[in-house]
Amino acid sequence: MPTWDSAQYLRFENERTRPSMDLAARVPLACVRDAVDLGCGPGNSTEVIAKRWPEARLTGVDSSPVMLEVARKVHPDWAWIEADLQQWQPEKMVDLLFSSAAFQWVSGHEIIFPRLMKCLSPGGVLAVQMPAAKAEPALALIPSMAGEDAWKARLEDVKTWHQPYTQEDYYRMLSPLASRIELWETTYIHVMDSHEALLDWVKGTAMRPYLDRLTAPESVEFEKSFLQRLPAHYAPQPDGRILFPFRRLFLVAMR
Ligand SMILES: C[S@@+](CC[C@H](N)C(=O)[O-])C[C@H]1O[C@@H](n2cnc3c(N)ncnc32)[C@H](O)[C@@H]1O
Repeated sequence: MPTWDSAQYLRFENERTRPSMDLAARVPLACVRDAVDLGCGPGNSTEVIAKRWPEARLTGVDSSPVMLEVARKVHPDWAWIEADLQQWQPEKMVDLLFSSAAFQWVSGHEIIFPRLMKCLSPGGVLAVQMPAAKAEPALALIPSMAGEDAWKARLEDVKTWHQPYTQEDYYRMLSPLASRIELWETTYIHVMDSHEALLDWVKGTAMRPYLDRLTAPESVEFEKSFLQRLPAHYAPQPDGRILFPFRRLFLVAMR
């Protein structure tokens, strides 16, 4: 589990929050009494829930005290719980369990997702979005560099995103417990100002567990080497900007 830096993460707040807006828009609930944001981070996705269902009592759950501190400061009136999604479950039934860009850090979905479904009130919804972008060069480059001679002694065993499940796996996990289920993928094409901006993006998420292992000078070296490789995969557009495709998997399951 990496250490999180909310400021680094929110450098791309619009791009990072858009998937939770798209997910909320597809949840077929007119009214929500209790909603929980699983892996709420700094509260950006919780705000999306609040905008769509202003009547809902909101709880954000996250394992990072750094992220929760920011969330609590901005919305002291909402409930914020520090807990691990691997074990956490609500004490009473809720109408909406929502999660954007968090479960890729958690293993054991085949146990956790059915358990969460059973915590929904009748007609309640589990709505989840996770990156499905492991093969994207900017993301694949990081573990591949970590396996090179220069880095492998320090980085080979770093635990990073966990994306072993297919759409079929999620269908099989959830359909026995769901009255309806929707699965879809969206590829966002992020327009980045430069290759440096792309480095900044991964420093907010996928590269974090690796940088945690390195000293400051080693981190600079790792980032420099990463940056040098980006132009081979991302040619600048005529205006100098870079297009960064990012695929995400969405699921909405109603109890
Ligand atoms: C990329 S941020 C997502 C923030 C926000 N939900 C969004 O849509 O932008 C991922 C969050 O998941 C949290 N997280 C990762 N693994 C977790 C776990 N096992 N238990 C609880 N939270 C976890 C991290 O602390 C981080 O705040």
